[in-house]
Amino acid sequence: MDERILTNEELESDTFEISLRPLSLDEYIGQEEIKSNLRVFIEAAKMRDEALDHVLLYGPPGLGKTTLAHIISNELGANIKVASGPSLEKSGDLAAVLSTLEPGDVLFIDEIHRVPKFVEEILYPAMEDFELDIIIGTDGKSRSIKIDLPPFTLVGATTRAGDLSSPLRDRFGIIAKLNYYKDTELQQIVKRTSRVLSMNITDDAALEIARRCRKTPRIANRLFKRVRDFALVEGTGTINQEVTMASLKKLKVDEYGLDEIDIEYLDALINKFNGGPVGVETVATAIGEEVTTIEDVVEPFLLQEGFIKRTQRGRMATEKAYDHLKISRQESLF
Ligand SMILES: Nc1ncnc2c1ncn2[C@@H]1O[C@H](COP(=O)(O)OP(=O)(O)OP(=O)(O)O)[C@@H](O)[C@H]1O
Ligand SMILES: [Mg+2]
Repeated sequence: MDERILTNEELESDTFEISLRPLSLDEYIGQEEIKSNLRVFIEAAKMRDEALDHVLLYGPPGLGKTTLAHIISNELGANIKVASGPSLEKSGDLAAVLSTLEPGDVLFIDEIHRVPKFVEEILYPAMEDFELDIIIGTDGKSRSIKIDLPPFTLVGATTRAGDLSSPLRDRFGIIAKLNYYKDTELQQIVKRTSRVLSMNITDDAALEIARRCRKTPRIANRLFKRVRDFALVEGTGTINQEVTMASLKKLKVDEYGLDEIDIEYLDALINKFNGGPVGVETVATAIGEEVTTIEDVVEPFLLQEGFIKRTQRGRMATEKAYDHLKISRQESLF
């Protein structure tokens, strides 16, 4: 499958992300409950001159977990050390990062559900007692030593909280689930991006992008960047509704944020299989896609937005899917 503009996973071409990351809680749009709780916990930790409790951030890709981890360290006025689950292959890898920490620092472990089990076990005493238990030497001569660590804050991020072992999950004092964003919040995110990238966008155009980005800031920013290209080439000084609609049409992103493959899937479900129920393998074959692509990439958003239902006997199209397809059909006649 080609690179899909509507994927919520980070793409190679998303290199602009770092420059678009807000740096403070005030600049971070939405997730109001998480922000107001964090403000209190951060303030309290600073007043007590202690490290902030360990924080677990979880939720779908592109909703701002990495961004928030960096903001936490900024707000604490602390350094941040970054690692990722898969990069911590050996216990020594984790020990090496831990031993660079200074009091109050943030250790950010991305994809924390992918930390190997035996490395995870070193995390337990590190998180709980700020102690590093390591075994040095080999075979008969090996011995275990304890090293004191400075108080630090572990910030873990994961898209799969369910994959975390309960001993690990239990060691986080603060657990925050990031939610999909509201259209008005995404509109503000697009407006902010337009300011950072110095390209004006009208409010209605920003709202149009907000409606079609699958409630995900990463996708909103990506769509903004592409629409900006069209506006630039067409010589529009400001991104307006008209150029936005035309660009999104060229990008084949429809008014619900569905793209060609989503529409193909719904079309097959309705027109080839009478709306279902039908097994996922059958639909996948009908549209020439892998079953895993359908299950991991196509269906989650369609399910969440109520275009399809999953039943014991297979997938079914909903009323909303029938309605929507009629609209896209008529549109494509012109
Ligand atoms: N609340 C927000 N306000 C403004 N911009 C945001 C917000 N959340 C995310 N973004 C933007 O969306 C982009 C993606 O966010 P980020 O990389 O933090 O997502 P993530 O949850 O870590 O994704 P992944 O699960 O793939 O690691 C960032 O470049 C950031 O600019
Ligand atoms: Mg991330």
